[in-house]
Formats: sequence, C-alpha cells, structure tokens
Amino acid sequence: MQTNLRGRDFIGDTDWTREEIETALDVAFDLKRMRALNLPHAYLRDKVLAMLFFFTSTRTRGSFEAGMAQLGGHAAFIESQTTQISHGDTAKEIGEIYGRYFDGIAIRQCDWNFGNKYLREVAAASRSPVLNMQCDVYHPFQILADLMTIMEKKGKDLRRKKIAVSWAYAASYVKPISVPQSLIIQMSRFGMDVVLAHPPEYKLMPHLLQEAQDNAKRYGGSFSITHDMDEAFTDADVVYPKSWGCLLTTEDGKQAAEIAKKYTNWITDDRRMALAKDDAIYMHCLPADRNIEVTDSVIDGPQSVVYDEAENRLHAQKAIMALTMS
Ligand code: CP
Repeated sequence: MQTNLRGRDFIGDTDWTREEIETALDVAFDLKRMRALNLPHAYLRDKVLAMLFFFTSTRTRGSFEAGMAQLGGHAAFIESQTTQISHGDTAKEIGEIYGRYFDGIAIRQCDWNFGNKYLREVAAASRSPVLNMQCDVYHPFQILADLMTIMEKKGKDLRRKKIAVSWAYAASYVKPISVPQSLIIQMSRFGMDVVLAHPPEYKLMPHLLQEAQDNAKRYGGSFSITHDMDEAFTDADVVYPKSWGCLLTTEDGKQAAEIAKKYTNWITDDRRMALAKDDAIYMHCLPADRNIEVTDSVIDGPQSVVYDEAENRLHAQKAIMALTMS
C-alpha cells in the first residue's frame, strides 16, 4: 500500500504506478463497503473540489458531486461557458487562482489536440491536485472504475484474462478516443490479454499502442490489434465495444461520417456475444447508441454489467479524492 499520494495529480492512467493504482483500488473497495453499511467516512470534511466542465456529462458530474458530499466536503460545478475563460483567463491563471480557492481541481476538456495540454498547464500552476474527468487522450477515472468492476466479476488476478476493446459504429456524435486508449494502457498493466479491434481508419495514438505493448511484455499479458470484431470477441472474458472518432485519419466531420457509414455492421448483438466465453461480461462506459452500437438485448441482457460499472465511478473517484485531497 502506498501512502504518499497526498497532493498528487491524476491526469494520465500511468501517471500512477501499478502499485499506486492498487492502493486506490483497495481504498475504493473499502469505501464501497462503508457506503453499503451506511458507515460514515467523512475524510474530506471542509474540503472543496472545483469541477470545471467544458463538455456535457451525466455520470462524471453526478458521481464526483455525490462523492464529495459523502466524503464530508463540497463540489462546486463550474460550467466553462459561465466563466471568463472565453474572455481570456488562461490555463495558468485557472491553476494559480483555483488552486488557492479549492482543495482539488477536476477538469473535463476533450478538445482534440488541446484537452490534455490544458490539464497539464493548469496542473503546473496549481498548488492543489488536478484530476482528469476526461480529456482528448485519457479517461482515467472511467478505467479505474472498469478495473474495479472486472475484479468484482472475474477475481482480482486478471492475468491472461482476455479483454476485447473494440470500436463500434455510432451515429450520435464523434466520441473521444480517450476510453480505448486508457483501457489498453491500464488493462495491459494488470497482465490481461488485450485485443484491440477497429476498422483501419480508427487508429489510436502510436505512443500509447507502444506503451500497451511494453506493458504486456513487462506484466506477462499480451497486446494485439485486429480489424475483425468477431476475432476480438472470440473466447473473450470481457468485451468492451464502443464508438470513437477517426481523429487520427481525418478531423473533417463530413469525411468522418462517410468513413463511419462503411462500418455500420460493427454492432454488438447476440450473435457476437455468443462468440465470447459463456460467462463473458459486456461493458460500456455509457452513453451508448442503443440498437446502433449495441442491441437492447445485449445491454439489458444477463451479461451486461454497465450499471455496476457506472456505480463504481463513485467509489473509485472517492478513493482518489480521499488519497490526494486529505
Ligand atoms: N462515462 C462517462 O464519462 O459518462 P459521462 O460522459 O456521462 O460523464
């Protein structure tokens, strides 16, 4: 167990060592148990978290806000458009000023080629820890909750368990590439056999593919890429199919929509689920495009763990806040 996490930022999944992530998970399981027993756990009494959102959210906002209240503190919801950021407040100024008002600064900024840099700039200027509520590169709290969920369903030793991280077609909006990127780099640190599936145009950042490869070697799992969704699903213990944008191929929305239309058959349905192991679990960070990305029969079916996964956002985030902001 690591005890030196006070004041630390949590921006990229691998900013924390595997041992530090294991500490966060230990604390998250403990906090979940305490909430189940209705035991008080006000570790952040009088502490205040700023939640600065540049994008919409259902789960992230709700779970951070509820989590801070349950820890005895308060979370201030700050919608960027209601601030002076568009009138000139810089990342450095946000870090300097909010770092003095607040005990932690959580930010969601997913603009392509900008979000992660913005968080790092705020963090460099802030005396309080900066927490990544999703950027253009990473979604580390989602993946911490996902790890917790997989451990609950499959046991804590995840070595050689196969996870299919797959692209899926969606029509609603261009979804960031942060979830699959965070998944491949974090799950490979826990020795899983990670198979990434996507059509050729939906590549992820090369340095993160390399990181996943290096992790597989170091932690005794494997990492491979396929352009065949069925192949990824075959004999998987965990399937995690979701849509993301072809941002590394084109940033033109019209062109991206044309490319996506070629792959409308990348849907998770009962036939595909049957390729995975009988006890495989279906995961999705949500929101999902129902009956486009995944059929109702799968997302509402017996193998789906999406609501436990969403619940674990609360416990995982409380753990990181308690460790970094106390
Ligand atoms: N999974 C997730 O981050 O959900 P929200 O976008 O609703 O916060």
